[in-house]
Amino acid sequence: MTEERYTSSRKWLARAERVIPGSHHLSGQALTTHARSPMYFERGRGCRITDVDGHEYIDYLMAFGAFLLGYADPEVDAAARKELEQGSLLSMNRPQHVLFAEALIERFASADMAVLLKTGSEATTAALRIARRATGRRRVARAGYHGWHDWSLPLDPSVPAGLDAQVLEFDSNDPHSLEALFGAHPGEIAAVILAPEMVLPPTREVFQAIQDTTHRHGALFVLDEVKTAFRTAPGSVQARLGLKPDLTTVSKGLSNGWPVAAVVGRRDVMSSAAGMHLSATYHGDTAAMAAALTTLRIVEERGVADHVWALGERLIDGLNAIVRELDVPAVSFGEPFPPMPFLKFNAPNPETNGALRTAFFEAMLVRGVLMHPRHMWFISYAHQAADIDTTLEHARGAMKVALEQCRAA
Ligand SMILES: Cc1ncc(COP(=O)(O)O)c(C=O)c1O
Repeated sequence: MTEERYTSSRKWLARAERVIPGSHHLSGQALTTHARSPMYFERGRGCRITDVDGHEYIDYLMAFGAFLLGYADPEVDAAARKELEQGSLLSMNRPQHVLFAEALIERFASADMAVLLKTGSEATTAALRIARRATGRRRVARAGYHGWHDWSLPLDPSVPAGLDAQVLEFDSNDPHSLEALFGAHPGEIAAVILAPEMVLPPTREVFQAIQDTTHRHGALFVLDEVKTAFRTAPGSVQARLGLKPDLTTVSKGLSNGWPVAAVVGRRDVMSSAAGMHLSATYHGDTAAMAAALTTLRIVEERGVADHVWALGERLIDGLNAIVRELDVPAVSFGEPFPPMPFLKFNAPNPETNGALRTAFFEAMLVRGVLMHPRHMWFISYAHQAADIDTTLEHARGAMKVALEQCRAA
């Protein structure tokens, strides 16, 4: 029955197979299987999206966090449209570039300058290049997903060999593992890049220890706030935890779906970017910058971070109450904070765990709630308490179905 639900989705998938390797982009991969989860979608508004078979969902993925306010936000899109009418990408510089850099810097106590880019992967790559130039060192240490560029997949056989010796991984929940890397490569590590969602629970002490270790060894601390910026607090994770990174990367949450990203940081470090080859044809696009300026204004004026925090807590608490009540081996938590909630199944038997998880998320889809089984979720400003309560009602029903299915199997 579930499979019939997604007939049009499957037709598009079959057509895509001929023209798109793998039938879809990587982030569009099946939530469970191609046959039992929607693959192609038609439109989104607020916190709801509609698939090509006409089913509407309360969406908790929000394009992997790109929509902090909600799909098709009228104010943000109107601001972008106005720029489009002026010719949004002119041959040289625009005053809007300066205004956007100023608006970003205002929001970070740690930042005096900004470099404007298009994607999160570009921002993390640029931040590390700036750090190498500022320190004269070449190696970096990392913890987290930082994008798809060569350096961030150092072990992938499709990237140039030897990157793994340049890009070293540390365990973000064990600051000693970072100390060990500095011990093994004295005076060689330019920067430590950390995505906040890697520290669980996100205690100030662990972040501070990583920042201190980095500075003690003369390296630069890069906080990769591509996911967390603006949604966890107007000043992002660093303001919430009192951190002072040398460089920060931002993108999702910045512009409500319009492609833009930035590196912001301290003047003496950022000055190294002058004259560096950080350039792409579309960097100057002011439509996305206008969208970002409007998003940033709304985030501040309307208390967006407080809203998504409160609703994230409501969802997490509600899910935990349900799993306790039904005695399900699962726990809900913020990854790392409530605006990015998740539900992790933790049955000791991996097969049972997988079956329970799949059954739950498929039953949620049938009830009109889209939650990713393997990726943290994102609450938007468009979600309301009533959406969370409806979601919880469905979660209780879906969990009962999942338990019954697993018992019957
Ligand atoms: C922490 C972090 N850094 C960098 C990136 C890469 O951003 P993008 O996908 O826009 O290239 C992501 C994307 O999910 C991310 O979560």
